[in-house]
Amino acid sequence: MTETQTAVPEAEAPAPAALSAENITVTFGGLVAVNDVSFTVPDQSIVSLIGPNGAGKTTFFNALTGLYQPDRGGRVVLNGLDVTGMSPNRIASLGLARTFQNIRLFNLMTAEENVKVAMHSHLKSGVFGTVLGLPWQRREEREAHEVALELLDFVGIGKTAYEYARNLSYGDQRRLEVARALALKPRVVLLDEPTAGMNPRESAAFVEFVHRVRDERKVSVLLIEHDMSVVMRVSERITVLDRGEKIAEGTAEEVRTNPRVVEAYLGSSAGDNHITIADEEGE
Ligand SMILES: Nc1ncnc2c1ncn2[C@@H]1O[C@H](COP(=O)(O)OP(=O)(O)O)[C@@H](O)[C@H]1O
Ligand SMILES: [Mg+2]
Repeated sequence: MTETQTAVPEAEAPAPAALSAENITVTFGGLVAVNDVSFTVPDQSIVSLIGPNGAGKTTFFNALTGLYQPDRGGRVVLNGLDVTGMSPNRIASLGLARTFQNIRLFNLMTAEENVKVAMHSHLKSGVFGTVLGLPWQRREEREAHEVALELLDFVGIGKTAYEYARNLSYGDQRRLEVARALALKPRVVLLDEPTAGMNPRESAAFVEFVHRVRDERKVSVLLIEHDMSVVMRVSERITVLDRGEKIAEGTAEEVRTNPRVVEAYLGSSAGDNHITIADEEGE
């Protein structure tokens, strides 16, 4: 008898790109929000997607995670598996976890409960089993509790485990969202504007945090990020969208000096779209 082949390759199998998107187009009525964009997230890399407001970044994310269907011809491949057309839950359980541009937590649950709820899509018993309280379900629940506490410690908010999510500071809510994403044991984590609303000190700490997530959880991280000092410090590779099209791709240095990128940013006058062209690291 041959071994049954599973849809998801084991972690030790030779790694294809963690995620690749081919020819993704998303249209809303007459508006082409994303126009034939292809891109790859290498295994255990940190890559960013940038571009002025309205460039199509979030729409592109939504096409990757299954929230939107790409137009005909588009394909999303996660860890070697074609996930195009699958539901967001299915795609998440296959290894693509995300946070949202606007924080989405259960405000009246504790931090620990928020993580456990995220985890329940992976547990056998689900919420009902927990209520019924059979022995193996209680054991599963206890394990979930321990994993939740471990994840909260990992993201640096272990002390807030039993506080309501809504009472956490903004930065801590962002970290809780990351803990929820990691609860799915993902291969790739997508973070949509994670430092929005953070002060410079929190943002700097976040850059370090993203590195730790990648190194210790062995995931790839794909960021949409407004803060250019964060983007330039954290990204191994940057893809730039403008009006739905990919206009540049490369290292921070290549992108920063790319005339099309400079023009895209300077051409839009909104203050929060400003790209810092000069190297401001001062090292
Ligand atoms: N659900 C939607 N329905 C119609 N138009 C949308 C929708 N979502 C986004 N758009 C439009 O698509 C374009 C890209 O938006 P978005 O992906 O949110 O950009 P970004 O995240 O880069 O700021 C914008 O013109 C926006 O108005
Ligand atoms: Mg957006």
